[in-house]
Amino acid sequence: MITTDPEKQIPVNKEDLFKNVISHSKEYGFIFPSSEIYDGLSAVYDYGQLGVELKKNIREYWWKSMTQLHENIVGIDAAIFMHPTTWKASGHVDAFNDPLIDNKDSKKRYRADVLIDDHLAKIESKIDKEIEKAAKRFGETFDAKMYRSTNPRVLEYQKKIEEISGRFKTALTNNDLVEVKQIIIDCEIVCPVSGSRNWTDVRQFNLMFSTQMGSVSEDAGTIYLRPETAQGIFVNFLNVQKSGRMKIPFGIAQTGKAFRNEIVARQFIFRMREFEQMEMQFFVKPGTEMDWYAYWKEARMKWHTSLGSPMDKYRFHDHIKLAHYANAACDIEFEFPFGFKELEGIHSRTDFDLKSHEQHSGKKLQYFDPEENKNYVPYVVETSIGLDRMFLALLSDAYKNEVLEDGTIRDVLNLPAFLAPVKAAILPLVKKDGLPEKAKEIMNILKFDHLCHYDEKDSIGKRYRRQDAIGTPFCITIDHETTDPSSANYNTVTIRHRDTMRQERVKVDQLPGIIEEKVSMKKALKSLEA
Ligand code: GAP
Repeated sequence: MITTDPEKQIPVNKEDLFKNVISHSKEYGFIFPSSEIYDGLSAVYDYGQLGVELKKNIREYWWKSMTQLHENIVGIDAAIFMHPTTWKASGHVDAFNDPLIDNKDSKKRYRADVLIDDHLAKIESKIDKEIEKAAKRFGETFDAKMYRSTNPRVLEYQKKIEEISGRFKTALTNNDLVEVKQIIIDCEIVCPVSGSRNWTDVRQFNLMFSTQMGSVSEDAGTIYLRPETAQGIFVNFLNVQKSGRMKIPFGIAQTGKAFRNEIVARQFIFRMREFEQMEMQFFVKPGTEMDWYAYWKEARMKWHTSLGSPMDKYRFHDHIKLAHYANAACDIEFEFPFGFKELEGIHSRTDFDLKSHEQHSGKKLQYFDPEENKNYVPYVVETSIGLDRMFLALLSDAYKNEVLEDGTIRDVLNLPAFLAPVKAAILPLVKKDGLPEKAKEIMNILKFDHLCHYDEKDSIGKRYRRQDAIGTPFCITIDHETTDPSSANYNTVTIRHRDTMRQERVKVDQLPGIIEEKVSMKKALKSLEA
């Protein structure tokens, strides 16, 4: 568990925290808006020099936890472009839709389901306010649960929520878009920009990006940018099973880009049009899928909580309305600065995908089970997490503003040390007297194992602040005693710990061991097996 002193932290409201995280990301080279010199591209972002390191470390932790810790999970790297029939078989051509609606006055486009969800959230927040007010009024004796179940105004709001969500669920199940529009009208939902209720009809919008393969004059065909990496795993199921002599149960893991033409793209890197997924499909014997579903729910939650955020930042959300291919599904939600939202999905996908690919390709995608002495199409339990969302979860939780004893403020990212982009900063106290040369010597020892920063500009205090702000776990300062053979501290340096700001004098040859102990991924991986 990472600790900076909570007493020192400056309380900020969640909206400001989110704004601060976005500007911090840009200021320090984690994330930039894509093609910013042309005013950016909506919901597309670039990772900068530090962002790319943090992202790589998160990916590596996921990858190792899957492929290195499980003898029966192997990785692949399938192409982004796939045969177009893949997407017919997976159901994405026909059903990967969001219901959209336009406001005729503002010309703004919205997801109809998001407008309704936001409306429900507003009613929910009215309930919260009633409870808050009552809690103040009644003091310590207040029983929130009792108040919720008896107060007439709260009950009225609750009834409204149930009515609307019931109607909405039925409308979605029946694909009744006229009813979805009627709900928007009945709820008197207005366009946040124009304030008007002048809505178009609701229509379905397919989220896949398409392009042409081959020149137009040739036999050009429409192909899609993959909206999920999972299908690259399904179509390679038999290749991997046979070439790797894999026995069921076994898994195939993959990380890579996915693309979705999201209608409502907001909340920074939470919902992007180009993003990265880390997915694992676990192939199991039919009838055992619920046991494996429970196993992966627990294993994935353990992975998340090994990263040091408090347990109450995570929760499971079971899907009530299941996708046509699933017989169980849930999300691991994280408390982002804008509330609890989906971070990862765990789905029991039955044999839907493999069977559908069998039908569309005419090729058998079956496994011969030597114990059962028969062929079958395996069932699949999937774990699917967005790398960018994981990045945002870590960054927003790690970002702190602290008031120090002298009244100054430091921005600090208390990221898990093994994920931090830079592991150590090498800082000569002054730019002369042979100190830079000694610092470079130390840099040359450490750089083969870790990404280190050398910095000789500005005061040592300012340099510490810069490193705190990017989450560097160690600052190593080289001073005159380090290079003075007559000093008792000859060949020693000061090492400063990011979270506690504690400083200690250590021998140069102890540095590799001290740093390795703290930044190695091994400890975190071991905790997953505990
Ligand atoms: N193969 C299953 C699948 O793709 P999903 O719930 O649509 O399931 C899985 O996506 C994860 O991918 C989500 O939990 C989220 O972390 C991430 N994700 C989905 N859409 C995203 C987007 N537009 N931007 C960023 N991450 C996204």
